[in-house]
Amino acid sequence: MNVIKTIKEMQQYVQETKLKDETVGFVPTMGYLHEGHLTLLHEAKRENDTVVLSIFVNPTQFGPNEDFDSYPRDFERDERLAKEAGVDVLFYPTVEEMYPNEPTIQLKVTKRVDVLCGAKRPGHFDGVATVLTKLFHIVTPNRAYFGMKDAQQVAVVDALIADFHFPVTLVPVGTIREEDGLAKSSRNVYLTEQERKEAPFIYKSLQKAKQRITEGETNPEKIKKEIEQDLRNHTNGRIDYVDIYSYPHLTQIDHLSGRIILAVAVAFSKARLIDNLTFEV
Ligand code: PAJ
Repeated sequence: MNVIKTIKEMQQYVQETKLKDETVGFVPTMGYLHEGHLTLLHEAKRENDTVVLSIFVNPTQFGPNEDFDSYPRDFERDERLAKEAGVDVLFYPTVEEMYPNEPTIQLKVTKRVDVLCGAKRPGHFDGVATVLTKLFHIVTPNRAYFGMKDAQQVAVVDALIADFHFPVTLVPVGTIREEDGLAKSSRNVYLTEQERKEAPFIYKSLQKAKQRITEGETNPEKIKKEIEQDLRNHTNGRIDYVDIYSYPHLTQIDHLSGRIILAVAVAFSKARLIDNLTFEV
């Protein structure tokens, strides 16, 4: 496995790969790899000749009071896991390499971000779009892999690729969970023992709601209230949002039909957890 830290070397590597007519699968991450990330890598490995993994904790997608400094990092462990997963290139740039100057041009995501995490984390998806634009230009992948755990991110990347004509196929991958249903997340390490016991109820409440919808409930307000009540009964976390929208457009609906997303964010003492279900009604 090659570890590449500069943009120039990364570009040279991809150029050579393309000359050999090999396809490139790309998995962008912020590291502290877990099985969710590894599943994206396995999918990329299965569908492409070469797999590029990036590890970059992107400062521009963190708000001033968010956890950029304390975001978990363990490069040695990540490097070992990446090697085991069959990654060909681990792209591991510094912040100075990716953002050498004050930007002259800024990207602003104007749709799909006025709700859910976009509404709670102003500017977050502008930072995600910015870093992915840079990474797509550097890596020029044929396919890029993203987890549905971050369904709003998938919706934004879908729009980014379409709006800017990136010749990249977006491959969404289903959420990987612990045995008790908790979505795998780098931030789960920040849960206390008690919170870890409560956290699986986030997914349980979503599953229960899906069941109610499948059985015929079409009123989103009713379903939201039931999820909220369920979360209050089983967790001490602060409910950040419980919402239902169309997917991937993320527009308001007052009658449950078509492709929808049920999305939840719960803030525990040191970790804010998100989860969702998207499905066709
Ligand atoms: P990060 O949180 O490290 O996630 C990297 C990728 O792994 C994302 O596509 C995310 O959706 C996926 N992922 C995380 N947990 C998952 C799970 N339990 N099941 C399936 N996939 C999972 O998302 C980011 O980094 C950043 O915003 C990034 C796209 C790298 C831009 O900086």
